[in-house]
Amino acid sequence: MKLALLLVGFGHVARRFVALLDEMRPALASLDIDPVVVGITTLTHGSAFEAAGLDAVQAAQRRAEGDAIGPVAASLSTLECLRRLDSQSIETRVLVETTTLDIQSGEPAVSHVADALARGVHVITANKGPVAFRYRGLKELADAHGVSFLFEGAVMDGIPIFNLVRETLPGATIRGFRGVVNSTTNHILTALEQGEPFDRALARMQADGVAEADPTLDILGWDAAAKTAALANVLLDAGTTPRLVAREGIGPATAGLVRAARASGKRLKLVGRASRGPSGVDAAVELVQLDPFDPLGSLDGQGNALELDTWPLGRIVITQRDGGMEKTAYALFADLVTVARRVSSGWRA
Ligand SMILES: NC(=O)c1ccc[n+]([C@@H]2O[C@H](COP(=O)([O-])OP(=O)(O)OC[C@H]3O[C@@H](n4cnc5c(N)ncnc54)[C@H](OP(=O)(O)O)[C@@H]3O)[C@@H](O)[C@H]2O)c1
Repeated sequence: MKLALLLVGFGHVARRFVALLDEMRPALASLDIDPVVVGITTLTHGSAFEAAGLDAVQAAQRRAEGDAIGPVAASLSTLECLRRLDSQSIETRVLVETTTLDIQSGEPAVSHVADALARGVHVITANKGPVAFRYRGLKELADAHGVSFLFEGAVMDGIPIFNLVRETLPGATIRGFRGVVNSTTNHILTALEQGEPFDRALARMQADGVAEADPTLDILGWDAAAKTAALANVLLDAGTTPRLVAREGIGPATAGLVRAARASGKRLKLVGRASRGPSGVDAAVELVQLDPFDPLGSLDGQGNALELDTWPLGRIVITQRDGGMEKTAYALFADLVTVARRVSSGWRA
């Protein structure tokens, strides 16, 4: 099956995704999936559209060397590329959304996703924005147009959370969850336990490309709040946004709290949690002292973990020991395979 892909955003994740598609051609062929990248748009590095297919691997190489995708002055907008996608001869069309997130609004991704779904285009994304800010509305739009809206890479890179629940827990109830979902803050908290200064630990996360471009999004708890909102919206139908999630963060003064926790045999962790209560879903990101043998308390460095409180299976913990770009690219790959499988099985939302 041929799939026409429009890549909106062509940064680190999208370029790694393109390379992964190339590396995984044999696996794709065995699944009878033939993705064709027909369009690429960026904010400041031009765009390109070619109905017969672009050489996306070469475009990624050129972009990594600092070149633009196409003429910047006459750059095609994402909307224009979506219009061109309408007249594509390939029937199954997929928008791959990996733009930068505005934590206050979820844009521009929310609009990109809504525009695509309303045109009957499937969406796969690693962007937290759409699911953290507008999940309910976008899911309804996807269902109304009989297309998929998938976002496995948005919360724990490639670790299957949404797939796990959707595919392997039929009929189960998710009562709540708690998780360490931000690598930068967990790394800093671990470093503070070892007596390292806050600024040095943060600088290392920035140098390694793990911290967000604006690191205050990590340390003030915004990234964790966006992930908590995304999880709460999908797993608990919370209809919330990151701004409605009660939020704590960390700073140089957190070192004192870390030492106090250690003195009482505990570890300080930044935990995102949500649960159903009598008056709706209660969601928060907070600094908590945990037992070192707790699945979240035992996490070191950049480790992440999520504990789901389910019925009837009880508590299920999934741990991510090696996060990163390649895993996020794989989440997009897995979502793409899901789209293809759904289409070939005649699935309707
Ligand atoms: N990096 C990770 O490990 C990771 C992990 C999980 C999730 N994510 C999420 O994945 C997304 C992409 O991350 P990244 O690291 O690839 O970011 P990035 O390297 O900063 O790339 C972002 C891309 O989006 C483009 N863009 C921004 N606004 C746009 C607009 N209005 N229209 C079209 N293109 C636009 C940028 O264009 P220019 O090239 O012109 O700037 C750039 O190509 C983010 O939402 C991030 O939170 C990332």
